[in-house]
Amino acid sequence: MQITRLRGLREKSAIRDWVSETELHPKNIILPYFVVEGKRIRKPIKSMPGVYHLSIDNLIKDIPEAVGIKAILLFGIPKTKEEVGSQAYRKDGIVQKAIKSIKKEYKDLIVITDVCLCGYTSHGHCGIVKGKRIDSDTTLEVLAKIALSHAEAGADFVAPSAMMDGQVRVIRETLDKNGFKDVGILAYSAKYASNFYGPFREALDSTPQFGDRKTYQMDYRNSDEALREIKQDIDEGADIVMVKPALAYLDIIYRAKQKFNIPIAAYNVSGEYSMIKKLTSGDRRKERDLALEVLTSIKRAGADLIISYFGKEIGKWLC
Ligand code: PBG
Repeated sequence: MQITRLRGLREKSAIRDWVSETELHPKNIILPYFVVEGKRIRKPIKSMPGVYHLSIDNLIKDIPEAVGIKAILLFGIPKTKEEVGSQAYRKDGIVQKAIKSIKKEYKDLIVITDVCLCGYTSHGHCGIVKGKRIDSDTTLEVLAKIALSHAEAGADFVAPSAMMDGQVRVIRETLDKNGFKDVGILAYSAKYASNFYGPFREALDSTPQFGDRKTYQMDYRNSDEALREIKQDIDEGADIVMVKPALAYLDIIYRAKQKFNIPIAAYNVSGEYSMIKKLTSGDRRKERDLALEVLTSIKRAGADLIISYFGKEIGKWLC
């Protein structure tokens, strides 16, 4: 029998590059930032080596390090948390102030804001608590207020992540009514109740104080349901839809990409990031190789955009 010699395309690095099917590029990476009140703050987040709490002045200084990056995703950590999380929609809230400062310095940078309550509520849930339940309808009003306050401050995209039914619709209507038709929505559509969010919750101090998020985030045993969530968000006006986490959910990314003709974002979350850090324990080359493999796999599965805490490194690695 004749042997088909597939190794011919792997013989030299130039040939491998020449025929490679997937290209990772920093322009498709979204870099998350955790912004805090105060000045000159750059406080390491223990569970996420290389990621910091930054005050606005330091955030502004940090952005040029993200070579080739076109978009950032902002998370705010308010000074005080309370039951209903009203710090989230103040005009002088931390995210609102950060957007204004960033836009003053970097006009072309795409600023995306996370729209949720978990970082702002004393109980750590993503919505308003009534009895022992997270109440969708009252939460929707608050999410709309938060999104509007971000748009007023100058955000390009808002990213609702509370997993409340109808959140995209309410936000779209509110933005349109108030003259922000051009502000886009990146919807956290298929967001799973995942064990990979641990380090992020340390960063945001947002671990639920009772129960868990399984009554609003998705069950990891399901994938048809993810397509329903995505379809619903598209129908409600999402411009980009997201699958989250990414690495453990490549099948969902793949199915979403096959089914819908809309940009798909994938969030390579904190636990997935920290796993790479742990496995490579400070060896920069190993870290680069493993991170590039993981991120390229997410792209190969069908993600157009990837949210990654390696955002600052990717440009340096690839350019
Ligand atoms: C919550 C939110 C979460 C993340 C982003 N927005 C997690 C949660 O449900 O606690 C996780 C991101 C990460 O783990 O990197 N609205």
